[in-house]
Amino acid sequence: MSERKRTAVLISGRGSNMAALVNAAREPSFPAEISMVLSNRADAAGLAFAQEQGIATMVLSHRDYADRIAFDAALDANLRIAGIEIVCLAGFMRILTPWLVERWRNRMINVHPSLLPSFKGLDTHARALETGVRVHGCTVHFVRAEMDEGPIILQAAVPVRADDTPDTLAARVLEQEHVIYPKGLALLAAGRLQVENERTVVDGERMPRDVLVVPRV
Ligand code: GAR
Repeated sequence: MSERKRTAVLISGRGSNMAALVNAAREPSFPAEISMVLSNRADAAGLAFAQEQGIATMVLSHRDYADRIAFDAALDANLRIAGIEIVCLAGFMRILTPWLVERWRNRMINVHPSLLPSFKGLDTHARALETGVRVHGCTVHFVRAEMDEGPIILQAAVPVRADDTPDTLAARVLEQEHVIYPKGLALLAAGRLQVENERTVVDGERMPRDVLVVPRV
């Protein structure tokens, strides 16, 4: 079997997606190992979980750097020193410079709580409810310089209920984030993804089974 890909997970807060990746990577056949959890905030709750799991953690505060490019250069240097091959953004609330994104092109992925390209940015669940969409969900995608853009890898569809609040909807979407993010990392780490004309191809197929998760309602 080939080596497991050394993966860093970048967080800013709770870290539930990071925990889902760590839990999935416990499986010996999982093609990635979570080698490092890095936060831009020392108070990120997820750091404690990572430490308990014996994973190397690092805090890199953006406040210690003069500007975005200096912060991103330090981030990049630390990832390289740790021999990282794949980067997963998991609630990492920083806009990355195009320079950093390019250096990790097609090796950096993100999870976003909406069916992209709808509802980029923050407060996605409240905005979905205000708009009256019938289906909401989440997306795992390759990272590009524009926020919440990039070739889509997987999506999960979450039907909206009449009595949903932003919190109840967020909870059902989060459950699906925890399903699709490990699947997306596994596909990337196993070398099963290609990007052609800014669309993701899985095992040579544009729309294979399993890239859309539709949970039972
Ligand atoms: C998740 O819902 C993730 O999709 C979202 O932040 C939350 C982090 O939760 N990310 C974004 O909005 C990125 N644009 P977590 O810390 O428990 O994983």
